[in-house]
Amino acid sequence: QFMMQRVLTQRLARLFVLRNKLLLSVRPAAANMSTLLINQPNYSWLKELGLNEDNDGVYNGSWGGQGEVVTSYCPANNEAIARVRQATMAEYEETVQKAQDAWKVWADVPAPKRGEIVRQIGEALRRKIKALGSLVSLEMGKIYVEGVGEVQEYVDVCDYAVGLSRMIGGPILPSERPGHALIEQWNPVGLVGIITAFNFPVAVFGWNNAIALICGNVCLWKGAPTTPLTSVAVTKIVAEVLEHNHLPGAICSMTCGGADIGTAMAKDERVGLLSFTGSTHVGKQVAMMVQERFGRQLLELGGNNAIIVFDDADLNLVVPSAVFASVGTAGQRCTTTRRLMLHESVHDQVVERITKAYQQIRIGDPWDPNTLYGPLHSKQAVQQYLAAIEQAKQQGGTLVCGGKIMDRPGNYVEPTIITGLPHNAPIVHTETFVPILYVLKFKTEDEAFAWNNEVKQGLSSSIFTKDMGRVFRWLGPKGSDCGIVNVNIPTSGAEIGGAFGGEKHTGGGRESGSDSWKQYMRRSTCTINYSKDLPLAQGIKFE
Ligand code: UN1
Repeated sequence: QFMMQRVLTQRLARLFVLRNKLLLSVRPAAANMSTLLINQPNYSWLKELGLNEDNDGVYNGSWGGQGEVVTSYCPANNEAIARVRQATMAEYEETVQKAQDAWKVWADVPAPKRGEIVRQIGEALRRKIKALGSLVSLEMGKIYVEGVGEVQEYVDVCDYAVGLSRMIGGPILPSERPGHALIEQWNPVGLVGIITAFNFPVAVFGWNNAIALICGNVCLWKGAPTTPLTSVAVTKIVAEVLEHNHLPGAICSMTCGGADIGTAMAKDERVGLLSFTGSTHVGKQVAMMVQERFGRQLLELGGNNAIIVFDDADLNLVVPSAVFASVGTAGQRCTTTRRLMLHESVHDQVVERITKAYQQIRIGDPWDPNTLYGPLHSKQAVQQYLAAIEQAKQQGGTLVCGGKIMDRPGNYVEPTIITGLPHNAPIVHTETFVPILYVLKFKTEDEAFAWNNEVKQGLSSSIFTKDMGRVFRWLGPKGSDCGIVNVNIPTSGAEIGGAFGGEKHTGGGRESGSDSWKQYMRRSTCTINYSKDLPLAQGIKFE
């Protein structure tokens, strides 16, 4: 009987401990109000961006948000920052209507005057660049300089768009008929829907927004559900410029939300162009919905980017390039280097040097100026990281460094290098959005170029070489099949002046510079007869 009593007491004690653990784990949620980071003195700068404990997640000239409340968490410690009220379907509907009304005004504003508004947006962003960069760092988890860097991308594309607002136009082509003019006229598509991902919560919206605006479009933005505070803060900056100029705020509308709002945008015939940035998996679903209605789409989907290092490469360029492109943004850029192909003659040396560099990466809070490497954005990404490492091992890979979760708060994992996998191992062909670098050993140029192109994705690619012939073979028809084709620089960190995007499962879209503006406009081929005759093309006589 004594024994039984002891067992019972032990059981009760265990239950008590369990109950306490449970109570403790629910307490932070119950005490949410007082523990939000925005209420702590260290984070009072968030108020400079117009953010509060609770924020409206809808803007269409006025602010609203009657839908689900989402809490935004900081990936570096998983603490709650503040909350956002997302859009309901009724608010989505109201916003689209207001955006369409706003278009009637905006389309009549001459393009250079639209450029002036974009110039002011660029100026407003410059004034807030530090606070906004810090918010990106806090909410997305990338390091501060990268947070500021992506606001800079928005600033840069604003400058670019201002110039473009005086330059876009079509050619006058020679007509085969006497007394006829053959000209191209470009018009806006109307409403541009913009769906962006968590990893570039400012820049990717910026590329679309600045170019779409000077083209004469209005925008409706849905940012990632896990970076809603950044969406709200950016929209506040843009809205202030529009309102100050007595323009309808709905020119730059925002509806925060999840898949429900995204699906509505994809299916909505009133959305003249849907620009989607995100995973290939979701992008495919979006693409099918837009295609179903013969809508226009601009897709920026996954990448599986390679750096190829030849035997004549300058290794002093290779090492920092590979480290920046694989570890930067904790491996969460669509342009991140995921495959490092090393010529057999330099393989061991480069692996050794890169491994050494990996071990010196300064890990810490992303907003600490000393830090080079921060957390993954979500707990889900941590699970994907672990699963990918398991698969890589099973498929024959050797872990050279990293491979583990770090023992600290937040979603930190070790940057990882894996060697010894076959070039066509399934895991090497999979884009896992985490800092795992697969190192492959090759013998010939043909082999390396073929491996570069054999994956489904086609975003970015780089070679390191001094051989001019090889450089031009790489750029040519039998070279890289990617949208971004580099020489002696990393795969990531593209400038805004070029067209950004990729082929195959990357989706084929082009944003930002060069002639990407054409994706935001529709082309009319116009033939004007200014003679008194009616000659027909192809010399046809119809009399
Ligand atoms: C992305 O990862 O979605 O080229 C965009 C780069 C950046 C943009 C990346 N300028 O790495």
